[in-house]
This record gives sequence, C-alpha cells and structure tokens, in this order.
Amino acid sequence: MLVNMMLHPTQINSPLEKSLTMQKTRSPFDVLILGSGAAGLSCALHLPAGLRVGILSKNAIDEGSTQWAQGGIAAVMDVSDSFDSHIHDTLDAGAGLPDTKVVERIVREAPQLMDWLLRLGMPFTRDQGKLHLTREGGHSHRRVAHAHDATGAALETTLLHAARARKTLTLLDNHTAIDLITSRHLGITSEENRCLGVYALNRSSGHIETLRAHCVVLATGGASKVYLYTTNPDGSTGDGIAMAWRAGCRVANLEFMQFHPTALYEPRAKTFLISEAVRGEGGRLVLPDGTPFMQRYDARGELAPRDIVARAIDYEMKRLGLDCVYLDISHKPPEFVREHFPTIYARCLEYGYDITRQPIPVVPAAHYTCGGVMVDENGRTDIDGLYAAGEVSHTGLHGANRLASNSLLECMVYGRAAALDIAKRRRDPKLNRDMQLEIPAWDESQVSDSDEEVVVSHNWHELRQTMWDYVGIVRTRKRLSRAMNRIELLKREIDEYYGNFRVTHNLIELRNLVTVAELIVRSAMERKESRGLHYILDYPELIEGEPGNTVLVPNEIKACDKQPSS
Ligand code: FAD
Ligand code: SIN
Repeated sequence: MLVNMMLHPTQINSPLEKSLTMQKTRSPFDVLILGSGAAGLSCALHLPAGLRVGILSKNAIDEGSTQWAQGGIAAVMDVSDSFDSHIHDTLDAGAGLPDTKVVERIVREAPQLMDWLLRLGMPFTRDQGKLHLTREGGHSHRRVAHAHDATGAALETTLLHAARARKTLTLLDNHTAIDLITSRHLGITSEENRCLGVYALNRSSGHIETLRAHCVVLATGGASKVYLYTTNPDGSTGDGIAMAWRAGCRVANLEFMQFHPTALYEPRAKTFLISEAVRGEGGRLVLPDGTPFMQRYDARGELAPRDIVARAIDYEMKRLGLDCVYLDISHKPPEFVREHFPTIYARCLEYGYDITRQPIPVVPAAHYTCGGVMVDENGRTDIDGLYAAGEVSHTGLHGANRLASNSLLECMVYGRAAALDIAKRRRDPKLNRDMQLEIPAWDESQVSDSDEEVVVSHNWHELRQTMWDYVGIVRTRKRLSRAMNRIELLKREIDEYYGNFRVTHNLIELRNLVTVAELIVRSAMERKESRGLHYILDYPELIEGEPGNTVLVPNEIKACDKQPSS
C-alpha cells in the first residue's frame, strides 16, 4: 500500500491518486517563503508591505546556518579597495567557473545592501567610527564587515526584528515543507508548469497542512548535513534542492561541496567552526610539532582559497597519519585575540583550550553547497511562480569554489531580486488565475505509524558515512561508484519506507538527503577533470578551454550552461 504522496517528476502527467479527499485549505498567501535565514528574511523585507507573506521554518525560526555565520559579509567598503578586485578574487577562487555577469552584479550591489543593513540597525564592529574590515582566504583586501566573530547571529536578530514589525508577515516555525504542489501534479498539462503551494508537516500538531500561495520562494539553505562531519546546523539537509528536483527543476554544479579547512577537532563539540578570520588576522596552520606547512602548497599560505587549504590539511593528515592539525594565534596579544574572537575564545575555553596560549586542534568539515537549484537573475526557477535564493540556489556566483563571506551577500542580493520580481508580477493574471483550483489534502488514511524507527536513524548514519568516506575532499571514480551503489540501495529502502509509513520530520529530511546525495555523486561522475572543490585522482588536470556547468535535468543529465529564461 503506497499512499504517502510521491510527487515526482516522472508522475507529473498523472492526476493525484483518486482516493485523495478534497477539502478546504487555509487562505492563500501572496508569497510563501520556505526558510527564515538571510535569504528568506531579506526577500520578505523587500516585498511590498501590503502583501500577505508566510515564512516557514522547519525548526525554531532562527535556526539555520545564518545564525552560525562567523567571519562576516564581503563588500567593497573602503577607498583602497575596488569592485574590480572583489570581482577578480571571486572569479579566481571559483576556478574559472563563476558567471562573470553574475559576479559583477553581486559585487556592485553589495555596498547598497550593507547600507540597508546599517539602516536596519545591524551592529557591525567598528574601529574609530568606521566599519572594521577583516580579511579571509582568497581576498586580496580587507573587505569583510563583521559583528566580532558572530556576524550571523547579529544578522539573524536584525532581520527577524524587522520582520516581526511587519503586521502582514506570518512566521510559522516548526513547519517542515514536504513537497511543492504544482499544476502538473494536478494533471494540468496544457500550459507551463506552475507552483501552487506546498504540503508541510506542522510539527506541533502532527498534521500535514496544505499551504497555497501565488508565489513560493525556496530559501531552505544548503545540504552539508549529507556528510558525517559538518560545520552546519542540523537542518542543512538539502530539502529545497530535493523538492525542486522532484517537482521538475534543473540543478547545477552539485559536485562542488565546500569543505571548510578549520572546524574544531573536539568530540564533545558537535560542530564548531574556527573562522577563517582567525587566519586573516595572523593565525598559522601548523603540524603537531609546530611546523607551518601552507607555504609548501600555495604562495598565499594560510590565506589561499579554501579548496587549496582544505586539500593541504587533508594531505598532511593522511601523509602523517594525524587526527588533526593545529591553528595557532597564540603569538598575538591575548587582548587582541579575546576582542576579535570572543565567541571562539569562550567556546574553546569550555573544552579546555585557551587560544591565547595554545594552538587549536582543527580538521576540515563539510561547510557549503556551491551548486543548487538553477535560477535566473530574478531568482526564478524552471517552474513559474517558484523562486530560489540563498544557499539552496545556483546563481553562477561561486563556480567551483565559493570565496569566503560571499554567501550572506548572495542571500541578500537574490532575496531582494526575487522580492522585486514578485512585486512587479503581483498583478500578473498568470500568477493569480489558479487560486480557485481545488488542491487535494494530504491523505494518510492508508499509512501506519512506523514500526521500526531504527531504519531511519540507521540509514541517516550510513548515508552520511558513505558520503564522507567516498565523496569527500579527494575523490576517485572507484569511490564514487561505490558510493552510488550504496546510495541506490538506501534510496530504494527509504522510498519504500516513505510510501508505507506516516511521515515524520526525520523521515522527510532523510528522503531529501538521499536524493541530494545521489545528485552530488551523479554530478561528480559527470565532471572528468579536477577543478576547485572537485578533486578526482583519475582526472587530476583542469580541462583547458571554456568550462561548463554540470546541469542535471530531471530524468536526464545534460551538460549545458544556460540558466532558466525569465
Ligand atoms: P539558512 O540560513 O540555512 O536558512 C535555511 C532556512 O530554511 C531555515 O529557516 C530552515 O529552518 C528552513 N528550512 C530548511 N528546510 C526546510 C523545510 N523543508 N521546510 C521549512 N523550512 C525549511 N557565509 C558568509 O557569507 N559569511 C560567513 O561568515 C559565514 N560563516 C559561516 C559559518 C558557519 C558555521 C556556517 C554553517 C556557514 C557560514 N556561512 C558564512 C555560510 C552562510 O551562513 C550560509 O550560506 C547562509 O547563512 C545560508 O543562508 P540561507 O538563508 O540560504 O539558509
Ligand atoms: C568563516 O568565518 O570562516 C566562514 C566564512 C564563510 O563561510 O564565508
């Protein structure tokens, strides 16, 4: 008995199961934003105030990656810096793959968005009245504005404060979106596929709600949780990527998963990042005997782009059989360290490391999803009325490796772009005509409660271990096909489980994780070269000439370079 709805691209021509009951749903939103991080909230705050906007978060409202960002936001804010330099650094870090037009646009809009944040009251760290700008890997200037070493928490608080002041904005925490509802799912095939809303699990009531909207914005963050070790919070399970893929959207460049070089190596700390700004302010990477090693890998040393630093650490750890390497900032005055890095100082001290006196044990960990759902310059995806912004999306900014602190910036630029496009289209009859359509309610009449929750927890662990062991910093064809074999098995098991049992939050995330894992491995198998974050021993060289994006089209793989047309 398979009755949990499988809204899959292969089924988009058939109407939903006949057994589904028709029922009234809650009144539609003008815009439904899935995600309350930097991208979702930036989008909400740029929408016209009169629109009825819903913001969904599957956990507490402030619990995405944004809350945990440390280093800061990259923007040209000093006369000694220039747009050209920021553009050059972004293209260079991205190993030839970023879309130059997209990079130029984002870099040039950055100062406006910084002004916007300042007007909202963002408490950036200052030095003699001016913004204090720090430095991170790959940046040739000091250009990272920050709020000490807890920029994300300050940003999330600032944006949420502004969002809460808007009366027409409804914040729905503990609501996990399960799947997008599109016109194709309702059997309407005579016109372009349209997004009509989502099914979401209300985690407080346990009920599945049908949420309708004229427009839906995916702002669900990244997928780093697909790896066993990650800097990301629990919710980074790639839900938006998996939902968009199932609904029929193309995804791009998912082989480029970024590993941050320096996560704290401490079993008691689940995941804790040691900001790249520590290296920016003089921190040195050393072996257990105190020998520095980065100069052997890149003339920029500790401030080389992230892919290079993470690979160097990985290589040294394997070469010497080490559990970790060390990041040492103890040569700086203690008050300088405590003032610049109060959060990192306090957290390390909890585990017995006084970073003003001793080096910090560090290892690389999965950190950022460079690829994602393909969008155009307005954040539009392949499905009409469906937008994506932030880490869930692929805009063309990051190419094969994201430059540090360009992510929060991208969230704001594309959050705003999507909002402006939606505002422009608000009277578009195409977006308004489907509101009378009946959407079938979720039917749970034929599923039962799971009898073996252990299947879910076991598969979670096995999947993440597989990705860590076989699809990590250094790849081989053999490891990738080993990973694919296991993922295919897991996927069959998870799909069967999903079809038979009542959905739970963990099951929804696991189903998405396995989908994203498959997309990552498929993308990695497609790329027959080593570029940026994708390093594969069978193809150690860069292919010369115009590089292409790896674009996966639901039900086929096609290499092409085009973003969706608007
Ligand atoms: P997130 O902030 O991750 O928010 C995702 C939202 O989507 C959450 O509200 C979540 O609940 C919701 N969601 C997800 N799935 C569902 C679902 N199925 N249903 C409903 N809601 C859902 N970048 C920088 O530029 N500078 C930095 O200094 C920096 N430091 C970082 C430090 C750490 C430790 C980490 C983890 C990342 C850092 N990054 C940094 C990256 C950056 O923080 C993220 O890329 C960015 O915050 C992503 O924002 P977002 O709005 O796209 O998603
Ligand atoms: C950091 O502070 O090192 C994270 C910066 C980023 O991921 O952009």
